[in-house]
Amino acid sequence: MGRTYEIGVIAGDGTGPEVVAEGLKVLKAVAEKADIQYNLIPYDFGGERYLKTGEILPDSAIQEFRQLDAIYLGAIGHPDVKPGILEKGILLNLRFALDQYVNLRPIKLYPGVETPLKDKGPEHIDFVVVRENTEGLYAGSGGFLRKGTPDEIAVQESINTRKGVERCIRYAFEYCRKRNKGNKLTLCGKTNVLTYAFDLWERAFHQLGQEYPDIERDYAHVDAICIWMVKNPERFDVIVTDNMFGDIITDLGATIQGGMGIAAGGNINPEGTSMFEPIGGSAPKYTGKNLINPLAAIMAGQMMLDHLGEGEAAGLVERAVMEVIQKHLKSMEAGRMGVSTTEVGDLVVKYICGSE
Ligand code: IPM
Ligand code: MN
Repeated sequence: MGRTYEIGVIAGDGTGPEVVAEGLKVLKAVAEKADIQYNLIPYDFGGERYLKTGEILPDSAIQEFRQLDAIYLGAIGHPDVKPGILEKGILLNLRFALDQYVNLRPIKLYPGVETPLKDKGPEHIDFVVVRENTEGLYAGSGGFLRKGTPDEIAVQESINTRKGVERCIRYAFEYCRKRNKGNKLTLCGKTNVLTYAFDLWERAFHQLGQEYPDIERDYAHVDAICIWMVKNPERFDVIVTDNMFGDIITDLGATIQGGMGIAAGGNINPEGTSMFEPIGGSAPKYTGKNLINPLAAIMAGQMMLDHLGEGEAAGLVERAVMEVIQKHLKSMEAGRMGVSTTEVGDLVVKYICGSE
């Protein structure tokens, strides 16, 4: 018997609690099967708590999170709260405070999932984006001058530290080597215009690359990356990029892998507490209707298991999800799955329990 994992759960807003419930159902089933022990520690941070108490995310919670093995997150964003407050106050705050410097986003099309890309199938769409998660335009550096006047100036600076860039790129090389699929790492940048930031990225990329002679190095501008993600997604194995470009290309990635119903991600601090989430939002219009697709949350749980070193359990979840997709789901979209949110969770559990 292994150790007991301490897992913080932030179900959050909108459909977050519904999808997290299914993810936890699956976690329970696979933990029994693979003999994994864990405790869940629920936290009610999100829009409701903020509206009731004014509290967003106290420092004491962050201290507690540092002691955890992982955090499982549903969704953040409430229709009655001005956009930005919860996203910055909870999601970005957690990524920064816990120094989760990599945002890992697999873009994998499973058999039976519809992609909007013509003539592309699972053999073409299987790559991973390593997005820097603590710096760049997200660092919050900037300000206003003469705000509210016709002479107003707004500055938003992209912060790129040698250390921050290097640790992200190193993670990407290591990940690519461990994945051992295409053994190719593509740097996604904009060296023709962002001649300071991506000069640093490019130098760090090639310098570190010397330590990874087994990994092919590839570079493309972000705009070209968008073209190839649509026309030739099979070109990619692992992509590494900054925070803003990573945000944008992973929504394109989620779309070609079948949409927000299936796309999951991990906010990783390899030396600290990592956090796993479905990458879609809180989907207020589907809240409480038992219509939302919980597979993205279930796959976030799968990534969490993998990260904790429970590869066997992660494999069981992935195979069960693939079976459910192929045998039961009409679509990945909320309300069009042909089954309800809770039924999807039950089906995944059924295949986990029935597996050898
Ligand atoms: C994401 C989201 C967040 C981001 C928002 C909600 C702040 O879009 O996880 O990609 O921009 O990182
Ligand atoms: Mn995003």
